[in-house]
Amino acid sequence: MLNFKYYSPTSIIFGKESTAGLGAQLSPEIKTVMFHYGGGSIKQSGLYVQVFSILKEKGVKVIELGGVEPNPKLSLVKEGITLCRENQVDLILAVGGGSVIDSAKAISVGVKYDGEVWDFFMGKAQPQSCVPLGVILTLPATGSETSPNTVVTNEEGLLKRGMKSDLIRPVFAILSPELTLTLPEHQTFAGVMDILSHVFERYFTTTGHVDVTDYMCEGVMKATIENAYKLRQNPDDYDARAEIMLAGTIAHNGILGVGRLEDWASHRIAHEITALYGTTHGVTLAVIFPAWMKYVSEEQPEKFVQFAKRVFDVSEADFRSTAEIANEGIRRFEAFLTEMGLPKSFKEAGLPSDQLDLMTEKASIFGALGGYRKLEVSDIKAIYELAL
Ligand code: NZQ
Ligand code: ZN
Repeated sequence: MLNFKYYSPTSIIFGKESTAGLGAQLSPEIKTVMFHYGGGSIKQSGLYVQVFSILKEKGVKVIELGGVEPNPKLSLVKEGITLCRENQVDLILAVGGGSVIDSAKAISVGVKYDGEVWDFFMGKAQPQSCVPLGVILTLPATGSETSPNTVVTNEEGLLKRGMKSDLIRPVFAILSPELTLTLPEHQTFAGVMDILSHVFERYFTTTGHVDVTDYMCEGVMKATIENAYKLRQNPDDYDARAEIMLAGTIAHNGILGVGRLEDWASHRIAHEITALYGTTHGVTLAVIFPAWMKYVSEEQPEKFVQFAKRVFDVSEADFRSTAEIANEGIRRFEAFLTEMGLPKSFKEAGLPSDQLDLMTEKASIFGALGGYRKLEVSDIKAIYELAL
């Protein structure tokens, strides 16, 4: 196990009707709030009216900025920065999924920075301060409600890039599972895939003696898979929604990655697909992960054998070699994706296959990827090809 420092300052308010607790999160110093949201789902569900009335009741001035698109764009972030500066906003309240939260995070650090906010995404600067953030989550997937990350797309050059800073971990996150009952099937299961992928990025490691976090990862994976099946049967199952929501937060608040080398190659590889085609984040992960698993397990099957046995209950006795056990685990994972209605390849996702060189070039712009196995340019291209 590696040495580590763990930090997760976000207050989590979890449970049925927990949105009503928003008022209690707003200290008297908060005079002006920017209410940031997406394309309208919160208006349809009634959440918009509820949040507005709580903010009004608290007597805070509300600056509204809606219109965050899935895979949030830099241009709206810049608009938000200007609005926050003009109105001296004390708190940004993000109400929505990962895209709204990420847009809010980028605004929060951009407000306090004299240069271009995009500098943070290109590694040219690190934020020194930010406007505090609060979150009401409507889509369990990205874990952005407690994570130190934000991912934004610069329309110029279609660059989808992330940045990381503990400063942008939200101050509070309200997680009310019933808000997720309105999710379309597609978003529910893309979210499930994203949750699993955040565990995979940490679970598949070469660091030894990480029993505690291995078992924690396996527990989160098993609970996510079990409850995804329940939601496939009955999307109105509140308890299954609650389990998935908790899994989404735990999967990406950093606790599962402590003391181990993480990977993250698949996320980088998948982001280039979304940057070009706007594909839902979880869908691109479903396309890339089986290919990544097949590619890296060929030389390093050990962790995949453990995955097969502990997560998908593959019995060692039924197979002759470690490679066969590893492959059976990957096969069962692929079967799960199919049962969740998720595509496992470019073809199944209806994606064109003629931009692999461009995607490879963009994915490798900062050099080799990955921790479980280092991936050079030729490996990245091979993974895209395997995913066709
Ligand atoms: O915009 P509205 O109208 O709200 O509709 C959204 C959007 O169309 C809809 N939706 C959200 N909650 C709903 C709902 N519809 C009905 N009922 C509800 N309760 O769902 C659509 C997708 O929303 P979005 O926020 O884009 O999805 P998600 O939460 O999956 O976020 C994806 C973004 O997060 C990034 C991804 O790359 C992508 O840009 N990620 C952020 C991470 C982080 N900050 O830590 C880590 C992740 O790995 C990921 O990269
Ligand atoms: Zn993700």
